[in-house]
Amino acid sequence: MFLYNHFNINEKGHLCMDGVDTVDIAKTFGTPLYVISRKYIEDAINEYHRIMRANFGDNYTIAYASKALSAKFIYDIIKDMSVHADVVSGGEIYTALAGGMKAENLHFHGGNKTRNEIGYALSVGIGSFVIDNFQEIAIINDLAKAKNITANVILRVKPGVDAHTHEFIQTGKEDTKFGFGIKDGKAFEALNAIISSENLNLIGIHCHIGSQLLESKPFAMAGGIMADFMAEIREKYGITLPHLIMGGGFGVKYTYSDKPESLDDMIKNMADAIKSSCAKNNFPLPHITIEPGRSVVAPSGITLYEVGTVKELPGIRNYVSVDGGMTDNPRYALYDARYECVIADRAGENRDYLATIAGKCCESGDLVTKDIYIQKPQPGDILAVFTTGAYNFSMASNYNKTPRPPLVLIENGKPVLKVRGETYEDLIRLEI
Ligand code: LLP
Repeated sequence: MFLYNHFNINEKGHLCMDGVDTVDIAKTFGTPLYVISRKYIEDAINEYHRIMRANFGDNYTIAYASKALSAKFIYDIIKDMSVHADVVSGGEIYTALAGGMKAENLHFHGGNKTRNEIGYALSVGIGSFVIDNFQEIAIINDLAKAKNITANVILRVKPGVDAHTHEFIQTGKEDTKFGFGIKDGKAFEALNAIISSENLNLIGIHCHIGSQLLESKPFAMAGGIMADFMAEIREKYGITLPHLIMGGGFGVKYTYSDKPESLDDMIKNMADAIKSSCAKNNFPLPHITIEPGRSVVAPSGITLYEVGTVKELPGIRNYVSVDGGMTDNPRYALYDARYECVIADRAGENRDYLATIAGKCCESGDLVTKDIYIQKPQPGDILAVFTTGAYNFSMASNYNKTPRPPLVLIENGKPVLKVRGETYEDLIRLEI
């Protein structure tokens, strides 16, 4: 009945998440509200461990992609589950450390890490830098030299795989701002620069081919290309790199029409391609890291809103306005994203009302989702939007001076406030 099985309906007809009544949660904490299931996150991580172990034995690492949802509570959960994290800014490093992560378990991504961020990362003892441009090779080397240390680095490569997903979240093809091309020789130029830098220690290569990928084929293609490239590096430089990082991107169900291949198949097909390339090249199987973000947290979360107004335009569309929108979830505005929703207080009734869920901002594009079936809404109803655990909280804004909502984590059968909602005072706290 629901996309994920941590949801059910109780005797009052209310939507429950991990057995907790979401209408009660909305009453207690107000709306709009992000609600996250700790259990879902833990189960998702355990599932990744099971599948990675089945394919790679102990020779793997799961590094959670912080950008999907970065807050202290997430790191507090993952740090005890043998999970590392990928970070892409000084702010994410700071938050991960505040959440209890060890710096050595962080790897630092980003297409334009500033000098300050690099200095900060070195000073806390970051695990590794993922090199994305020529400029940072020199900066990291200089700053490491000044500290008399050696920095572990990983080269980000574009395997040239055209993954099928929204154009803005494709990253592994040739025309992308991320990484170095194999075909155009840039990856070798970068390798030359890294290898001749005294204070850099090259430990592996990395790719991330895109996000919300629903099929295993692009992962398998990228796996084969990357493993072949490791053999080419050995041939050219005599170095056998120990690490291969395959990025994230494993897709989730946002709507009933999304049909992702199983995670088992996606990872197995990727693993098989890597293994067969290694066998062909007589190359030892490297340590494999994956960086899932969305698939760990998106299904764990819902957003609860209160329905404010209902505007029916006969023959055109029914606009159901809620007390949030693009400020807490910009994904419709950015990617034309779709979501399933229910009226949480009448979750068992038929969904036979075609609605477009609109936000509060003065923007026609401020929609949460378009043309989906929900129960007939009334002002005052609680609307639950599913699968909002990733790239919602982390991409929220204060447009129209809208305070960002609080976040509640359901743990041990109880909703616990983890991030308080912003107040109007918060909105001007940095203004001088
Ligand atoms: N590793 C790297 C280097 C990445 O750039 C990303 C995502 C990930 C891992 C995690 O990918 P995931 O498992 O979450 O698909 N804001 C967009 C998604 C942008 C993804 C950017 N990179 C959205 O809301 O769909």
